[in-house]
Amino acid sequence: MKQQSKGISQARSRSSGTEARHATGDDRSRSSQAAKTLLQQWAEAVEGYFGQLPARYPAAPPRLVEAVQYSLMAGGKRLRPALVLECWHACQRANSIHDRAPTHSPAGINPGATPKGAPLAAAAAMELIHTFSLVHDDLPAMDDDDLRRGRPTNHKVFGEAMAILAGDAMVTMAFELICTDAEPALAATLVRELASATGPAGMIGGQVLDIDEVKRPENLEELQTLHRMKTGALLTASCRMGAVAASATPHQLASLDRYGRHLGLAFQIVDDLLDQTATPEQMGKATGKDAAKGKMTYPMLLGLEEARRQAGQQLASALNSLDGFGVEADGLRAMAHFVVERNV
Ligand code: IPE
Ligand code: IPE
Ligand code: MG
Ligand code: MG
Ligand code: MG
Repeated sequence: MKQQSKGISQARSRSSGTEARHATGDDRSRSSQAAKTLLQQWAEAVEGYFGQLPARYPAAPPRLVEAVQYSLMAGGKRLRPALVLECWHACQRANSIHDRAPTHSPAGINPGATPKGAPLAAAAAMELIHTFSLVHDDLPAMDDDDLRRGRPTNHKVFGEAMAILAGDAMVTMAFELICTDAEPALAATLVRELASATGPAGMIGGQVLDIDEVKRPENLEELQTLHRMKTGALLTASCRMGAVAASATPHQLASLDRYGRHLGLAFQIVDDLLDQTATPEQMGKATGKDAAKGKMTYPMLLGLEEARRQAGQQLASALNSLDGFGVEADGLRAMAHFVVERNV
């Protein structure tokens, strides 16, 4: 764990807010490397937690536990838990800098970077909900995909019924883990954030709009609404939950909410772009599926160039949202660059 804090601290000090705003090619690759290091470090924390999960459910049918672990431990970018933990860490750091050292706290100081309790449970719960959404998204009744995170999809290995039930189990586990690991008042707030981002006005509502073959989005506004719901809601909630777990000020919470909204939209624009331009080997999932399924996407509506430009605009707005933060948000700046500049 000490090793991990050091890694996060080094990644943090390699990226600065100035670099993020005036990115040259070199800066971009430094920023992207810093983000990858952060993602990896936070992923280790969350995956350590996931490794302990089977022991928490000794009475569960082993095949169900196996199906849950199969999708959960298959890798993935772990972007959402990293956002929970990076927002938690940024607020913690901002508030401790202001409380204890009002001027010139050097970048790279890393108090309390080892997550446990509420922030770690919130991060793990978010990844459980995200993984459930992927398992169900891949089902024959939805996108009908065979490859996810570089592996055969859950239903290809365990059958459709088990994939549905494994997804269901991930949802209930997510809420149970928060309620078990966070103190009750904080747990109530975290559960409400996660439930409302997941539910009918969030990801699930967005998935319903997405599968409607009769009424496709016809303009940018309708497409933005769909993207904000199906993808943006969970990314925004990741930022909000990290902030809430760190007892952020209302101003910090509002800034991170705005950051998450812009990042969430950018994320799905880039997912749509990569569906058209990347290979399955790069992505660990099938590509070219949106056109095949007749989905309306950013590149389909606007063309590749304009879609890229719009993703860049969302990146700029996400970075602006962090203006109230200092060096403590450099990790979030690097992660925003990664979301838009990634090729995975
Ligand atoms: C894929 O999300 C689903 C979308 C919301 C577009 P990710 O690209 O974050 O998937 P993983 O977690 O890295 O596998
Ligand atoms: C899925 O969007 C969003 C979810 C809520 C899972 P996509 O259907 O575009 O995600 P991928 O491309 O299959 O990962
Ligand atoms: Mg889908
Ligand atoms: Mg899909
Ligand atoms: Mg997609």
